Amino acid sequence: MNNHSENPIGIFDSGIGGLTVAHAIKDILPHEHLIYFGDTAHLPYGDKSEAAIQAYSVKITNVLLQKKCKVIVIACHSASSASYELLKEYVGKEAHVINVIDPMMEILARNFQQTTVGIIGTKRTVQSNIYAKKLSAKNLDIDLRMLATPLLAPMIEEGFFNNQISREIITQYLSDPQLGNVDALILACTHYPLIKKEIEEYYGGKTKILDSSLAAAQSLYDYLSSQNLLNVHPHPSHQFFVSDYTESFEAATRMFFDEAVHLESYPIWN
Ligand code: DGL
Repeated sequence: MNNHSENPIGIFDSGIGGLTVAHAIKDILPHEHLIYFGDTAHLPYGDKSEAAIQAYSVKITNVLLQKKCKVIVIACHSASSASYELLKEYVGKEAHVINVIDPMMEILARNFQQTTVGIIGTKRTVQSNIYAKKLSAKNLDIDLRMLATPLLAPMIEEGFFNNQISREIITQYLSDPQLGNVDALILACTHYPLIKKEIEEYYGGKTKILDSSLAAAQSLYDYLSSQNLLNVHPHPSHQFFVSDYTESFEAATRMFFDEAVHLESYPIWN
């Protein structure tokens, strides 16, 4: 069991978009040693089958367990919806597993009963119907409206945000009748914190925008402090691995992590 406070936190995603979650974690837990794994060889997960994402998730989890991670954070929404239950069982007592969906469900349960809540994410996340399933398991009285917005992640990856093109695409999606009159909108994709401001502007303050990366980071903080697993070591080091290294991935890290990150190649798909 990797439950030593000095052990690292493992974070994984389909690529480098999950660096938004890593950044939120670094902000709230500055003393933790982070190990990030981006499966750039299989990006995007949003169009993959559940079975494929499960197979990738297990293989990445093995790497993070070898590196003695005390917690594994599934930063990717598509992987959270496809693999969380499987990974929880697979990892057992070796580490704690956190996804990016359950922390948001807690927020909905506390603050958004009897409201209409929209969710935007990849096709995989929307098709999984995971939010509706969790909602009914918790008996929450919320009118959920899900919409797949598959153009947004590649748009952001190509650096199209805070400009006219991104505003037009965002407007096109958010004006879909499916999202009419939502009281809150969940950003259910790693990339969307980068367009949060534009989405807020679209709604002009009438709709609350809920950022899953912040909710997951807070949930991780609560878990570590409740289990006495907070690292008090003052100088953490971070490592960032990708399954397929390219210079353009490395160049794009600054966009998602707010600072440039050195990516190490870690091929696991032979
Ligand atoms: N990381 C994915 C997610 O949050 C978005 C990118 C992809 O489709 O791989 O669902």
